[in-house]
Amino acid sequence: MRISFFSAHPYDEASFQAANHYQYELIFFNDTPLNPATASMAAGSDAICAFVNDHLDYECLNRLKNKGVKWIALRCAGFNNVDLAAARALNMPVVSVPTYTPEAVAEHTLALILTLNRQTHRAFNRVRENNFSLNGLLGFNLHGRTVGLIGTGQIGLASARILKGFGCHLLGYDPCPHHEFLELGGQYVDLSTVYQNSDIISLHCPLTPENYHMINVDALTQMKDGVMLINTSRGALIDTTAVIAALKSRKLGYLGLDVYEQEAQLFFHDLSEEIITDDEFQRLLTFPNVLITGHQGFFTQEALKDIAQTTLENLFRLSQDLPCDNELTHLLGEP
Ligand code: NAI
Repeated sequence: MRISFFSAHPYDEASFQAANHYQYELIFFNDTPLNPATASMAAGSDAICAFVNDHLDYECLNRLKNKGVKWIALRCAGFNNVDLAAARALNMPVVSVPTYTPEAVAEHTLALILTLNRQTHRAFNRVRENNFSLNGLLGFNLHGRTVGLIGTGQIGLASARILKGFGCHLLGYDPCPHHEFLELGGQYVDLSTVYQNSDIISLHCPLTPENYHMINVDALTQMKDGVMLINTSRGALIDTTAVIAALKSRKLGYLGLDVYEQEAQLFFHDLSEEIITDDEFQRLLTFPNVLITGHQGFFTQEALKDIAQTTLENLFRLSQDLPCDNELTHLLGEP
């Protein structure tokens, strides 16, 4: 099997080559996103492997199909960037990696919370300048605080387990409640109750047409003054314009982002020599109480290993006509 990797980076090549016990031919298009304009690069491949910001709409999928591509493998959990109905219409099975060490993203969530709260990033810079003043670095105890988790699947639960260790009260909102959240002492409530009662709100749900911009003016208005908002899920869950207004009015006390709605233009690339023209992103960077990382929640040794192994096994199963639990086109139900 020949597999073309889009949006690839050296660390993808290293993890996939290490997991390639199948002796597949792996072709890596470094820093090249998959879209209708680049799809023809996959000519002669049996499968393509795409990442979070590759854009797999009908046009792109159709071009891949015309170039002989049979299977689509996502090396990520989210799949909001793929038109699954189009893939099924074209008879192109799509597979993903729904679970891989959810602790990777959960631990990054805690890194954002702890850094924003105790301002270790600012303290690091101060101490390097021989500035040992504590003014402006005042934090709060996590112990006893209420954390609202929106989405209590794999990553939400892994976050809940860590937060329980910190002595936090846990509120959850999820249309499909999980018993483990209750066993951890968490309490399921409606969204308004999460907004009104949480000191920290962390998003762990997939992006769907229904929850696009769920964190908007109305949601922010309901939140406690000075609330901390964390998003490690998908950027478009948040209305950036509304969040900037809430930061300016100090309604929002802290913002931690690992994802951003327009991240496809920015993240995973070295733009240090470029002029960034996204004014909202640049405005976010000016706030001292905003911390942004470039979609690195998944980026641990363990997760890369799991992702590579599962992706190659997914493709092996498709190629052998074996049932594959990670096939997303099944989510659409019977045609
Ligand atoms: P999961 O499928 O295990 O859990 C998602 C949970 O969200 C489910 O329990 C589901 O019922 C719930 N949910 C669905 N719609 C909801 C809504 N409107 N409001 C509240 N809850 C809702 O997924 P997992 O593994 O926990 O991942 C969650 C998200 O994290 C992914 O969809 C992806 O967008 C993001 N992610 C981010 C990564 C990063 O590197 N920053 C890496 C991996 C995933």
